[in-house]
Amino acid sequence: MTQQVKAVVARVKGAPVEVVTINVPDPGPGEAVVKVLSCGVCHTDLHYREGGINDEFPFLLGHEASGVVEAVGADVTSVAVGDFVVLNWRAVCGECRACRRGDLQYCFNTHNAKQRMTLAEGPDAGTELSPALGIGAFAEKTLVAAGQCTKVDASARPAAVGLLGCGVMAGIGAAINTGGITRGRSIAVIGCGGVGVAAIAGAALAGASPVIAVDIDAKKLAKAREMGATHTVDSSQCDPVAEIKRICGEVYEGAEGADVVVEAVGRPETWKQAFYARDLAGTVVLVGVPTPDMKVPDLPLIDVFGRGGALKSSWYGDCLPSRDFPMLVDLYQQGRLDLDAFVTEEIGIDDIEAAFAKMHHGDVLRSVVIL
Ligand code: APR
Ligand code: ZN
Ligand code: ZN
Repeated sequence: MTQQVKAVVARVKGAPVEVVTINVPDPGPGEAVVKVLSCGVCHTDLHYREGGINDEFPFLLGHEASGVVEAVGADVTSVAVGDFVVLNWRAVCGECRACRRGDLQYCFNTHNAKQRMTLAEGPDAGTELSPALGIGAFAEKTLVAAGQCTKVDASARPAAVGLLGCGVMAGIGAAINTGGITRGRSIAVIGCGGVGVAAIAGAALAGASPVIAVDIDAKKLAKAREMGATHTVDSSQCDPVAEIKRICGEVYEGAEGADVVVEAVGRPETWKQAFYARDLAGTVVLVGVPTPDMKVPDLPLIDVFGRGGALKSSWYGDCLPSRDFPMLVDLYQQGRLDLDAFVTEEIGIDDIEAAFAKMHHGDVLRSVVIL
C-alpha cells in the first residue's frame, strides 16, 4: 500500500524548498523502502534547487542518509527488514563494461528504484518526483533500489555515519582510493570544506605525512588541523605552490612537491596550483566539481609530459559502498575516524533553507537533518 510521508521538495527552479506530503509506493522487485533517520545537507542539494544539475523538477532533495529498512521487494536478499543502512548512489549493476572488467567503481549503469515517488497534495498532485542522486532522503521514508542500502553496524550514530553516503566518502576516497595515499607519502589538499577536510582525515588515517591543508579561510585551516593536517597554508597570504614544495622538501630530502595533491574546490586556478605543487611523477586528484564553462588556460603541454605522473578525477571517491562503508564505520566505532566532527549541527526537516544559507559562511561542515 502506498504510504504518505513528509518530505522536502524543490518544486520550481530557484524557489525556496517546501515541506510537503509525498506518496511512497510499496517496494517492487529489487527495491526497498527505508525509514530515514538522518540526512546531511550537501551543496549538490542546493545545485538541484537552482537548476544547476538538470531541469527535471520537482526534485525530492537529500542524499547523505542513514535509516532502517522498513520493507523490501519480494526478490530482495541483499538487505532485510530492520537492517540499519547507509544509502549510496553507486548500486553497481555487475553487467556493464566497467563491471565486467572488474572496475565496479566506474559502473556506467548504477541502479535506482524503478517506481517513482509522487507529490500527494496541491494542484500538481500525482506529479512524479526526481530524487536527488536517485535517493531523495529529506523524507520520513524513501524508496530506493535495494543495492543502494549498505548495511552497517547498527550501534553507530546515524547522523555521523550517514555522511559517508556522499561528501565525506568523496573526500576520504579521493585521498585513499583515487590518490592511493599510504604511509610514506605526502599529500596536500587544496580547499578544506567538508570534502577537503574528509580527504585530510582519510590521508591521516592512511598514515600520510606531511598532510598539508590549503585554504583561503583561516577557520577552515583550524578545522583541518583538528582533523589531521600536519601543516596549514593560507593561500590568500602566500603562494601555495612554493609553500607546499618547501614543506615537502623539509620532510623528504629532494622532494619537489607532494606525492598527491587533492583539488577540493573545483576551479581552474586551484587545479593549476595542484598540478604544479605535486612532486615529479606525482598525482593530481580533482574531486571538486567544476562548472561547464571552466577551462584551464595556458598549460604548456610539455609540462604535462615532462612532469609525468597522473592527472585523475574522483567521482564519489571511487568508492565501493559495500567495501568502504562497513570498513569506515568500523574505524569510526574504534575512534580512529572522527565522523562526529563533520556534524556541525543537527536540524529539523523545516530548517533546510536556513542550512543552505549557512553554507556560504565558513562555520558549518555539515548540517544534518534528523527525521
Ligand atoms: N583556494 C583555496 N581554497 C579555496 C579557494 C581558493 N581559491 N576558493 C575556495 N576555497 C575553499 C573555501 O574556503 C572552502 O573551505 O574551498 C572550500 C570549499 O568548501 P565547501 O564550499 O564547503 O565545499 P565542499 O562541500 O567541501 O565541496 C568542495 O567538492 O563535491 C564538490 O561540488 C563540490 O566543488 C565542490 C567541492
Ligand atoms: Zn555496472
Ligand atoms: Zn552530496
